[in-house]
Amino acid sequence: MPAKAGNSIGSLYIGLMSGTSMDGIDAVLVELGSNTTKLRGHTFLAWDDQTRATLKQLALPGDNEIEILGVADIEVAKQFAQAVSQLLEQTGVDRKQIKAIGSHGQTIRHRPSARHPFTLQIGDPNQLAELTGITVTADFRRRDMAAGGQGAPLAPAFHAAILQDPSEDRVILNLGGIANITVLPANLQAGVIGFDTGPANTLMDAWITRCKQHTFDQDGAWAASGVIQPELLSSLFSESYFKQAAPKSTGPELFNLTWLEKQCPTIANYNPADIQATLCALSVQSITQAIKRHAPDCSRVICCGGGTRNGFFMRQLQQELGQITVEDTTNYGIAPEQIEATAFAWLASRTLERLHGNLPSVTGATHPVILGGIYQA
Ligand SMILES: Nc1ncnc2c1ncn2[C@@H]1O[C@H](COP(=O)(O)OP(=O)(O)O)[C@@H](O)[C@H]1O
Ligand SMILES: [Mg+2]
Repeated sequence: MPAKAGNSIGSLYIGLMSGTSMDGIDAVLVELGSNTTKLRGHTFLAWDDQTRATLKQLALPGDNEIEILGVADIEVAKQFAQAVSQLLEQTGVDRKQIKAIGSHGQTIRHRPSARHPFTLQIGDPNQLAELTGITVTADFRRRDMAAGGQGAPLAPAFHAAILQDPSEDRVILNLGGIANITVLPANLQAGVIGFDTGPANTLMDAWITRCKQHTFDQDGAWAASGVIQPELLSSLFSESYFKQAAPKSTGPELFNLTWLEKQCPTIANYNPADIQATLCALSVQSITQAIKRHAPDCSRVICCGGGTRNGFFMRQLQQELGQITVEDTTNYGIAPEQIEATAFAWLASRTLERLHGNLPSVTGATHPVILGGIYQA
């Protein structure tokens, strides 16, 4: 990170992230000093079609879940290990030099509002430690939930550590399957807030998959070809999640095609490209409303996640935010698709150092907690 990087030699960590888009695994090699974060490498391993289909199946209630889950837990861990090998090969670093892997796991169910709230990330850390010979820290979210929090979002503590600036109010915006914001006030004493605003890519991905069998809308070209349908947009906005007060978090358990059909029973009457344009507008406007409401003096929105590669989406975002500067994290030394994985490398270091990783002002936990379990090499 240019702003906070130093020359001191830090410890090497690997961060593994595979989010709700279920596109694949981002793996980063990071050198963490006492106050520095330096990216040393990145690799991406796409899920094969079979694994992606299984993960999507597990994301919603269905038959024979325990058996499918047990197998997927191991399969995902094996692919995490493969991503680690690929990363080490690319960077020429020996595994013995790595202090730990911070593995987020693949979320297959996130139910923060259930009678007994729970969240489940798979990719067995025991397997991962055996296969890589590296200490693994994993299962970060459940301790926060046990402390009364949402278990999400967890990246805001990392965003605050590397991107908070006393000269301006900033927002960090992650555009994954779901969008989450972190509000970083210039006043370092004021609390950081952050929450999931709703969908970023998940509905657009699902809609283009159904209509055109593409996993995502390249550069938003299909959305750009359609016309926003105001009455459809307003029925989508009637979803109570958008009005719910933070702390809050969500996932494709809520925002999926069944939800779309429920919000708009006449969906079949619309032109599919117009629906895509309207889903894009829903994401953009739910994000910008949240920013204007929770960060009214914000002068800069710094974006990360795969959605930053969608030029049409980013232009719509800039248009809605007017004078506010919209940029991505490249200007701060980390490519947008590497931020979340880097956050989990950083969270692993917090865990090993017995430091808390959650921000109760974000997740709603009753107190700060050390996150995750440690699986020794
Ligand atoms: N070139 C692109 N054009 C449009 N959308 C893109 C592009 N590249 C990535 N995306 C979007 O980003 C998503 C992946 O983002 P990511 O940050 O990995 O999300 P997650 O954390 O949920 O896995 C893809 O599913 C897709 O919707
Ligand atoms: Mg991803």
